[in-house]
Amino acid sequence: MNANDRPIAFMDSGVGGLPYLAMARDKLPNDSFVYLADRAGFPYGPKPASVIIDNVRRIVDRLMKKTELKALVIACNTASQLALEILKAEYPGFPIVGTIPAVKPAAEASKAGVIGVVATQSTVTAPFFDELVKSKAGSCKVLRRGDAALVDFIERRFLASGKEERLAAVKPAVDSFLSDGADVIVLACTHFLHVYEEFVEMAGSKALIVDSREGVSKRLVELLAASYNSPAEKPLATQKEKLPDRMFLTGTAPFEPIYQGFAKAFNLQAAGSI
Ligand code: DGL
Repeated sequence: MNANDRPIAFMDSGVGGLPYLAMARDKLPNDSFVYLADRAGFPYGPKPASVIIDNVRRIVDRLMKKTELKALVIACNTASQLALEILKAEYPGFPIVGTIPAVKPAAEASKAGVIGVVATQSTVTAPFFDELVKSKAGSCKVLRRGDAALVDFIERRFLASGKEERLAAVKPAVDSFLSDGADVIVLACTHFLHVYEEFVEMAGSKALIVDSREGVSKRLVELLAASYNSPAEKPLATQKEKLPDRMFLTGTAPFEPIYQGFAKAFNLQAAGSI
């Protein structure tokens, strides 16, 4: 299959990668996309590293066998810090992009020299994260918060929730960072991008909210250009000719209404399990 006919895949433990797919789709309107939520493996945050690595390797292998892909985005900070290098070694030459906490731009933007990072427990306790902080935010005090409750809220209750409930869900993280003097907050779990607006509203003028969507999209575009001679070499498909972008789940349960709701909200076809 011609590279330009293959979809770009985004994967996460659940629905966290969807806002990343949405931004990439804006930048690459002629590409097709597939999304894989590892429903059966959710949540990654509290699991041991070896379990997460095995999961990610297994489901990426299954996805690759099901659909020929143009590129893969690990739209999950937890999976990226553990498995990105392993996957790159297993699929040499195949374009794979990971999601790294936006600690560098946060450190550059902080006037107080204090930044808050909200992520999964796995991410904020990883040796990789220590290295990232040392190399990209050495001059800052970095406050770390693993917030499994917020991950769970997004995955299970977000779609049915109203504004007040969403604001209440982000409040503990914002309050704790502000009371410890942070003036920049990094959303370092992809799930939290679903409540980006609520973080901005809750922090008000006291803290800037930073994330990695822009950086990941940019890296994807660059890598596609470097990997394929010309990213726009095909006669571009019209919207009508384009196959619908699809969402897959892991596990044997039916495609539950929650995931159908996310698929609809992000204009994806609920395409079953892999
Ligand atoms: N969305 C994920 C991340 O960026 C992980 C959430 C979870 O499964 O705990 O880290």
